Amino acid sequence: MSEEFAGDTPAWTRDHAAGLHRDESNVAPIIYPPDERLDEDLHIWDTWLLRNRDGSIAEIDGRRVIFALTSPSDLLPGKRHDVATIRYFYSTDGENWTTGGRVFDDGTLGQRQWAGSAMYDPDGDDGEVYFYYTAAGEDDAEELTYTQRIALATGGTVHTDESGLRIDGPWDHRVVLTPDGDWYEREDQSRGMIYTFRDPWFFEDPQSGETYLLFEANTPVPEGEGECEDPVWEEFNGSIGIAHSPSGDPTEFELRPPLLDSVCVNQELERPHLVVRDGTYYLFISSHVHTFAPGLEGYDALYGFVADDLRGDYEPLNDHGMVLTNPENAPFQAYSWLVYDHGDELLVTSFFNYFDYNRPSLDDVSLLPPDEQMRRFGGTLAPTVRLGLDGDRTELVGTLDHGHLPLRRESLPTTWWDQADRESD
Ligand code: FRU
Repeated sequence: MSEEFAGDTPAWTRDHAAGLHRDESNVAPIIYPPDERLDEDLHIWDTWLLRNRDGSIAEIDGRRVIFALTSPSDLLPGKRHDVATIRYFYSTDGENWTTGGRVFDDGTLGQRQWAGSAMYDPDGDDGEVYFYYTAAGEDDAEELTYTQRIALATGGTVHTDESGLRIDGPWDHRVVLTPDGDWYEREDQSRGMIYTFRDPWFFEDPQSGETYLLFEANTPVPEGEGECEDPVWEEFNGSIGIAHSPSGDPTEFELRPPLLDSVCVNQELERPHLVVRDGTYYLFISSHVHTFAPGLEGYDALYGFVADDLRGDYEPLNDHGMVLTNPENAPFQAYSWLVYDHGDELLVTSFFNYFDYNRPSLDDVSLLPPDEQMRRFGGTLAPTVRLGLDGDRTELVGTLDHGHLPLRRESLPTTWWDQADRESD
């Protein structure tokens, strides 16, 4: 990314989003509950893999590691964001996962920790982990607050022996980024829905070798300046933020202008991340049906954009931006998608959210009686989805089991997805 960047921020526009629709290239099959959750005592949702600095998935003594936001499985799912705790899990085959435990014992920033990313640096005596996360809520407020800062924990190390894998502290926690109020909206500037400044994602650009953090944010929209045709749309101001580390030090970042925004279109562009393939940059986010501005029909879905370089003129994939969504009769069955490269295909993991197959769709799950909310919450990893990619077009080509996360060297089953699965419910 050049420091000289001075162009307009690429936009996901209402014209693009007006084309959003479900079709056979983007609707995942119905998800059925697995025999077992990842951990019966836990609900898990946003999940990410431990990666090497170059973005490849870290493998430590034959084990891959995931991190997830977790809450006790007897807690009402809607309350989980208020108590989110990051735990790690590891696996030798990418199918069977062992719960490692909490990542942090104490010293975390924020009242609770939301999504992030983790980078493994094998240099030194023990492999060190750089752990980027969202510090949500003010540290010493008594009430639950929604302030969001981007935090980094360093000093954690990974150990393995015959009994398994352990991530140990002590960790050193610090805030690395807060919104500047100019490129990135601060809490006191937000109108309507709460602002966002979260979900840091470490990225080393393979073309330049430069070091970045991507994150979810909002673009400040001054009131009454007519930015949107209808002033009501002005609070729908999502952006994909980026910060640069000029020295390459993964602890020091400076804000840069957003990579893309969606002013007048959508308020939340969640968990941004990139996959770079043959010099083409694919930028992915998750978003919700209810965060689209009035007049647009969106979905709980994975959305994507493509450009020729990191700071390029991102255009929505498939013209409208939608890559993967839930079926009409289970519109909230999965969320928080994360894409990674698997050679010929892309693989997409997400969590199994509210399912309601064979029932009318749920507009607001919190209106259901508590036992129904519990019964219908997946709280584990969803089946991994296989995506075909051809230029700026994507297509679902199959699924793997719940929580199956193969490494690139591990081949995928040769059987193609049975079309009938997609139609049955
Ligand atoms: C997406 C998300 C993230 C956030 C987390 C909080 O599911 O909203 O943006 O970090 O959930 O639970």
